Amino acid sequence: MKTKWGTVYLVGFGPGDPELMTVKAERILRQADVIYFDDLINRSHLRKYSAPKIYVGKRGNKPGLPQAEINELLFQVARKHRRVVRLKGGDPFVFGRGGEEMTFLHSKGVTVEIVPGITAALAAAACAGIPLTQRGISSSVAFCVGHPEDKIRVPRTGTVVYYMAGQNVRFIARKMIASGWPPQTPAAFISQASLPEQKVRISSLAREAKKSRRHHSPMIMIAGETLSVKARLSSLTKSCCCRK
Ligand SMILES: C[S@@+](CC[C@H](N)C(=O)[O-])C[C@H]1O[C@@H](n2cnc3c(N)ncnc32)[C@H](O)[C@@H]1O
Repeated sequence: MKTKWGTVYLVGFGPGDPELMTVKAERILRQADVIYFDDLINRSHLRKYSAPKIYVGKRGNKPGLPQAEINELLFQVARKHRRVVRLKGGDPFVFGRGGEEMTFLHSKGVTVEIVPGITAALAAAACAGIPLTQRGISSSVAFCVGHPEDKIRVPRTGTVVYYMAGQNVRFIARKMIASGWPPQTPAAFISQASLPEQKVRISSLAREAKKSRRHHSPMIMIAGETLSVKARLSSLTKSCCCRK
């Protein structure tokens, strides 16, 4: 179906460091007529784009604009503007509601283009020097939600990454051990990956199962034996992401 309406670009900003955004995302942001952006987007970086910028994010458990209203808003804006950018942290299709927005806009006949971004799991692993796969140690990796509790799954995989795990680390560690993961499995907690404030804490499932700790947000959890590679090489690995 051909319409004279604009295109909605679902664009991934990456993990936070603007240098990790794609060249294509940069071009589309420069050409945008209007930008609707989420949390975890570097606001000072956005100032360099001339289009009006409208915040439609939702942080943690705090209320934000309901998803149905965001969908409708994007549809209405696409009727008026040629290039509408919906800018999301990381990648739009990884725990980013990109699929829901795309489906809704398609149902209204609006053209949608997806511009991928570096998802937090990849950035955090790279910035902390943790391989997600390694021959002989881990040949698979799973991305899982760490919130809410009833949605948390423990996959059979070499390495597991939990997004949005901040409030449920102890629950996740216990559930992993109960599902057969060895208690001594190393686990890393990386907060604000790629940003100057980045922090990396290394622990084990057994230790995390005992005590709840506070984490800086946003935080991502990586568990699996590939962390032992980091332990062996940490003095030689330099993070390429963090600009101090
Ligand atoms: C709603 S999800 C959005 C994920 C995003 N679409 C992506 O692909 O990275 C938000 C979660 O992503 C993770 N996250 C996003 N940016 C991060 C960062 N810079 N450092 C650590 N974790 C991050 C955290 O687990 C956070 O709770």
